Amino acid sequence: MGIKTALITGANAGLGLTTAKALAQRSFDLILLCRNEQKGLLAQAEVRKANPAVRVDVITADLADGNSVREAAQKINRNYKRLDVLINNAGYTPASIEFTADGIEKSFYASHIGHFILTYHLLDLLKKTARETGDVRIISLSSAAHAFGRKARFFRHIDSISSWSAYGDDKLANLLFAKAAAKKLAGTGITAYSVHPGAVRTNFASDMSGFGSQLFKLARTFMRTPEKGAQTSIFLASAPLKAIGEQNNGGYFADSRPKSPSNRDATDANADWLWEKSLAFV
Ligand SMILES: NC(=O)c1ccc[n+]([C@@H]2O[C@H](COP(=O)([O-])OP(=O)(O)OC[C@H]3O[C@@H](n4cnc5c(N)ncnc54)[C@H](OP(=O)(O)O)[C@@H]3O)[C@@H](O)[C@H]2O)c1
Repeated sequence: MGIKTALITGANAGLGLTTAKALAQRSFDLILLCRNEQKGLLAQAEVRKANPAVRVDVITADLADGNSVREAAQKINRNYKRLDVLINNAGYTPASIEFTADGIEKSFYASHIGHFILTYHLLDLLKKTARETGDVRIISLSSAAHAFGRKARFFRHIDSISSWSAYGDDKLANLLFAKAAAKKLAGTGITAYSVHPGAVRTNFASDMSGFGSQLFKLARTFMRTPEKGAQTSIFLASAPLKAIGEQNNGGYFADSRPKSPSNRDATDANADWLWEKSLAFV
């Protein structure tokens, strides 16, 4: 058994899988939240190889489906006594724009609302762990692409939205979520952070089409390895709180250092607004 427990969403590939292996090597027990069971089981075998001494479980959920996320959270609440680190990692650039039954752009649902529902339903477990240890962390994978996001588009059904604008909105919401969570959970022992991992050679954007995606594919050679890209997530999950800095709670990190967001919509007021609006989905 490990010394702490971490849950990672989108843990079967790319940054999620690399982060899971690194945390296993640091003696974390892992919960791999994956939408496809077969892919989850393959990832479980890989993470177990990284450290056979820790517990590695797979939970399936589709973050674009609120009911599936709620069921996954219930299973976790039933089966675990602690949760020290929650890494809301899953995300993607939508190859085509689709909307959920309630009119929400699907990648926004999966990247922000699904993670909001998951975090909300795990809050009692996170708070209980924080009461025992004084140190629980929620980490959200954002991106430098948060710069393309616009708060004014959040939750709106916009047929003409481009894939990259939709992705920018997702990543701005991830950054604002960390800001809001830090504030809402102040004094509980839970801290929250958002991350830009750099441009990383993963499956990310592999099913996109168009000029932007051609450029992205050409640039793959120059991108970071997943091992390098995962460093900031690993740092925020496992470094002593002192090394992260108390004043950086709620902050946006790149290369394991705090960084100023590059979007005028990244305000405390918008973070509070997003939190309140998201409560309607839990
Ligand atoms: N790679 C980069 O250059 C880069 C740069 C900045 C930020 N990021 C962020 O880093 C995070 C990880 O990306 P990555 O590069 O590791 O990409 P990746 O290799 O494509 O992995 C994405 C993961 O998210 C999962 N996922 C997607 N939609 C899901 C859903 N609806 N429900 C549950 N899981 C879902 C995928 O599952 P399946 O395998 O089943 O599809 C996969 O496990 C993302 O949030 C991304 O926005 C990446």
